Amino acid sequence: MTTPRSPAAGSAAQYDTFADIYDVWTETAPAAKSNRRFYVEAYLAAGGPVVELGVGDGRIAVEAAARGCRVIGVDASPVMLRRCRKRAEQAGVGDRIELLETDFRTFRLDEPAALVTLPYHSIGHLTSVPAKRQAAHQVFNQLRPGGRFIFDDFVMTPDAAARMRQVQLRATYPSAAGTDILLWVTSLVDEKARLIKVITWEDHFTAEGRPEWRRYRRLDLSWLDPDHARMLLLGAGFTIDACLGSFDGTPFSIDTAAEQIWIARKPGR
Ligand SMILES: C[S@@+](CC[C@H](N)C(=O)[O-])C[C@H]1O[C@@H](n2cnc3c(N)ncnc32)[C@H](O)[C@@H]1O
Repeated sequence: MTTPRSPAAGSAAQYDTFADIYDVWTETAPAAKSNRRFYVEAYLAAGGPVVELGVGDGRIAVEAAARGCRVIGVDASPVMLRRCRKRAEQAGVGDRIELLETDFRTFRLDEPAALVTLPYHSIGHLTSVPAKRQAAHQVFNQLRPGGRFIFDDFVMTPDAAARMRQVQLRATYPSAAGTDILLWVTSLVDEKARLIKVITWEDHFTAEGRPEWRRYRRLDLSWLDPDHARMLLLGAGFTIDACLGSFDGTPFSIDTAAEQIWIARKPGR
C-alpha cells in the first residue's frame, strides 16, 4: 500500500528525475554495499516497527523484508516509491513493506517505532539546519521510549572535497538500443556553507560512437560536521549510543573515518 500525504519536497522532486539512474548510481558507489549490510542487520535486530526515511527504490528495505522484517518506507518522491513497490513485488515481499509518500520532516506513524533510520547521507538532502532539526524532532516523537535512530553522513575533509570536485566517469552501460551510455559526475562543494551540488550527465552515442545527446541532472546535498551532528541529536532529546567511522563497526575518529554513523536512543524503556 502507498499512502500519498504531501507534495514532494525539493530534493525529493530532484529524485523523480534521478530515479532511472539510481540503480547504476548505487551499484558503482563504494559505500553502497557496506551500508546495505549494516542497515539490514540493524533492521533484523530491531524487534519492532522499523521505519526507513528516504527509502528510495528499496535497495535496503527490500533485502531486509526478504529476510523476514516488516519495514515502513517513507519517501516524498513518487517515482522512487514506484520503484520500491516494484522491487518489493518482484522479490515477493510486497506484503512486508508499507510505503508512505510524505516528507520525512513531518511523517507520522500509527504506532511508535523501535528503529528509525535515515541511510546513505540522506539527512544531507535537508540543506538547512532548521530543516535537519525539524527532522530530528519528528524522529524523536515517532519513536517509542528506548527506540533507536540511526543515520550516516559524509565526513568532509579537504581530500574528500577535492575528490568530489573531480570530474569522474562513474559508469558505462548499454542503452536499450545497445549503444553506449557514459555516466559522469562532479560536484560543487561550498565548504563554508556545507553545501554540495552534485552534477551528473549521461552522454548517449550512436552505433558509430558519435555523441547523440546528453542528459543533465542535479542533486542538492549538505553535510553536518560531527560536532553539529552530536548537538542536533542531543538537542532533540536523544542519548548517543555510538558514533562509528565505518560500516564495519570501527569507532569514529576524525583522522581515519570514511563516514559518520550515529546510533542514538530515545531515553526510557
Ligand atoms: C540517497 S537516496 C537513499 C535511498 C535509500 N535509503 C538507499 O539507501 O538507497 C535519498 C532518498 O530520500 C528521498 N528524500 C529526499 N528528501 C526527502 C524528504 N525531505 N522527505 C522524504 N524523502 C526525501 C529521496 O526521494 C530519495 O529517494
